[in-house]
Amino acid sequence: MVKVTLIPGDGIGPEIATAVVDIFAAAKVDVEFEVVNAGMAVLAAEGVLVPESVYKSIERNKIVLKGPITTPIGAGFRSINVALRKKYDLYANIRPIKSLPNVLTRYENIDLVIFRENTEGLYIGEEYFENDDKDTAIALKRITRQGSYRIIKAAFEHADRLGINKVTVAHKANILKLTDGLFLAEAKRVSLDYPHIALEAIIIDNMCMQLVMNPTQFGVIVTMNLYGDILSDLCAGLVGGLGLAPGANIGADIAIFEAVHGSAPDIIGQNKANPLALLFSGINLLEYIGQNEAAARISGAIERVLRENKVRTQDLGGVATTTAFVEAIKAAL
Ligand code: NAI
Ligand code: MG
Repeated sequence: MVKVTLIPGDGIGPEIATAVVDIFAAAKVDVEFEVVNAGMAVLAAEGVLVPESVYKSIERNKIVLKGPITTPIGAGFRSINVALRKKYDLYANIRPIKSLPNVLTRYENIDLVIFRENTEGLYIGEEYFENDDKDTAIALKRITRQGSYRIIKAAFEHADRLGINKVTVAHKANILKLTDGLFLAEAKRVSLDYPHIALEAIIIDNMCMQLVMNPTQFGVIVTMNLYGDILSDLCAGLVGGLGLAPGANIGADIAIFEAVHGSAPDIIGQNKANPLALLFSGINLLEYIGQNEAAARISGAIERVLRENKVRTQDLGGVATTTAFVEAIKAAL
């Protein structure tokens, strides 16, 4: 049995985490979840956002499935999600975006992966007021050659492995000449090691338009932290919404798998959440630990339920509850 840390998180987190646990159990996956929790619920109960037991479990098991954690807006504590990525140096945020059967959108055959730099950029959270009047606020953007290198390298390695002949780097180096300029220069340098893979550089605003007009032109996208965050939700929208978009935060020895979406406060406790984003993250986790057979079995069951098109959650235009959808996947297994 492989031990995996499970952090259910806030909002719809516990509902979708239960869904994944149920489906893994039905599929007799060789994984044992160690459940620890962090976030608002834990703060209310224990007076601390991230109990020591969470760090201990992550460091012991090294593989984590995580639900979303709420971050207060404008004031209050800083993001726990960002803090975990920094603490464990999970530099590669890898987010596959794929069209699914019978999920009606304007597009077909989208199959791309976003490689988002996950530890620097504007997410270092270094902000200050310029003077005591507090009428001018500054945020610092940190881009390093090493930080850029490793995410760009990961993107090229992925393209190389899958035989994809182009990597697209999204940037704003026309305006941010030093920071984005450094990232872009590093992309050009890394690309020299892959003469069979073209490097395409697109300015981020045009990138948004290109994605909306013609998303199938892209296979591998690599970009900085904030742009990657924004493009992730945009791309999730291209294939049917946040309920479908999985992700992984990968470092040298720890990996945290989590959906692109947040805690979805508007649908908490209504048995409405689509569990697929976290379930696909769990499938990516299984592949990461080499349990490809189990991963394929669960993917196959999801595929059958979608193709049959009888049970679908509300975000996909259906009427099924989270639990009904989970039961359908279990039956298909
Ligand atoms: P959100 O991703 O939670 O929700 C955006 C919209 O998508 C909502 O209408 C929601 O109902 C819908 N949605 C999200 N997941 C869904 C699912 N599985 N099934 C069906 N519909 C789904 O984004 P929002 O509202 O901007 O953020 C809410 C909170 O989540 C904030 O506190 C934010 O900081 C946090 N957050 C946490 C993340 C993480 O833990 N990694 C990532 C993104 C946001
Ligand atoms: Mg986001």
